[in-house]
Amino acid sequence: MTDQTTVRPATTEAITDAGQLLRAGRLVAFPTETVYGLGADATDDRAVAAIFAAKDRPRFNPLIVHVSDARAAREVVDFDERAKALAAAFWPGPLTLVLPRRPDSGLSLLVSAGLESVAVRAPDHPVARALLEAAERPVAAPSANASGRISPTTAAHVAQSLGGRISLILDGGPCRVGLESTVVDLCGDAPALLRPGGLPAEAVEAAIGPLAPPGSGPARSPGMQSRHYAPRLPLRLNASAPRPGEALLGFGRDSQETTKNLSASGNLEEAAANLFAMVRDLDTGGHTGIAVAPIPETGLGRAINDRLRRAATRPDTEGDDTR
Ligand code: TXA
Ligand code: MG
Repeated sequence: MTDQTTVRPATTEAITDAGQLLRAGRLVAFPTETVYGLGADATDDRAVAAIFAAKDRPRFNPLIVHVSDARAAREVVDFDERAKALAAAFWPGPLTLVLPRRPDSGLSLLVSAGLESVAVRAPDHPVARALLEAAERPVAAPSANASGRISPTTAAHVAQSLGGRISLILDGGPCRVGLESTVVDLCGDAPALLRPGGLPAEAVEAAIGPLAPPGSGPARSPGMQSRHYAPRLPLRLNASAPRPGEALLGFGRDSQETTKNLSASGNLEEAAANLFAMVRDLDTGGHTGIAVAPIPETGLGRAINDRLRRAATRPDTEGDDTR
């Protein structure tokens, strides 16, 4: 995927244009108080798939959905008392809350990589806040670096890492915190620290009590938790044709036997955008199994195959690459 990347100082005009680009499904890198984020419309499957393609991520890790405030967050996730207390104390700021996704959230399923939860955060940076206003929708944004590289804290870092792959970089100077947000999981009874970050865990504990440390207790990483969506039906990969009773999830040119096609034109971004919704759909369609056509192990195909392999082998015991 190539794109002409423009770097612009984050003026009011540039931010308005950036909002328009986001609404059109394009990628925009922007400063937050922690690190630069690579933003896309969180309600647009194709735009979210484009994030994974631009970062060249080998896996679909769930992304943080950025919102203006707690009110906007409550439109996409279920806020409990702990979330209310934390948002009141620390938002906007370097704290991300993982909460149950609302059925009517309108968010792309790819944004949380098939999980039933969504990570939300209200960033404390005037440019990020203005961009969220201009976009008029939640913005999914991982750190704006290619997979495996460290998080960028200046527009120049972003340009080095992602230049040629995204539409626009808003330059708002260096990031104040320089470290990613603290991620707290509030889905279970016991709140857990998933990632230490810009807000000290002690501050969170002062507000809601003790946090289970990262990696403690039942496996918490997205690839391992029980909430991780796995289809009910067995998945058979690299299938050339369905067996009796099976649905065929196709890729590339349609055959008569294709039940649903991830991308008839063989476009991996389109396939990524369709993956979670189509598997869910076939899972409830009265079949005995889901046969999946071969998907090339290149670009986004690696992430698609990774996800399919995890869904095909249960129990899901693989770890997660949180970068
Ligand atoms: O400071 C930050 O958080 C930056 C700025 C741009 O906001 N963003 C960032 O995003 O660091 P990313 O994608 O690089 O890291 C997101 C982290 C990962 O560790 C991911 O596994 C976790 O949040 N995460 C996101 N959604 C999750 C979910 N539904 N359940 C569990 N963990 C989740
Ligand atoms: Mg990152």
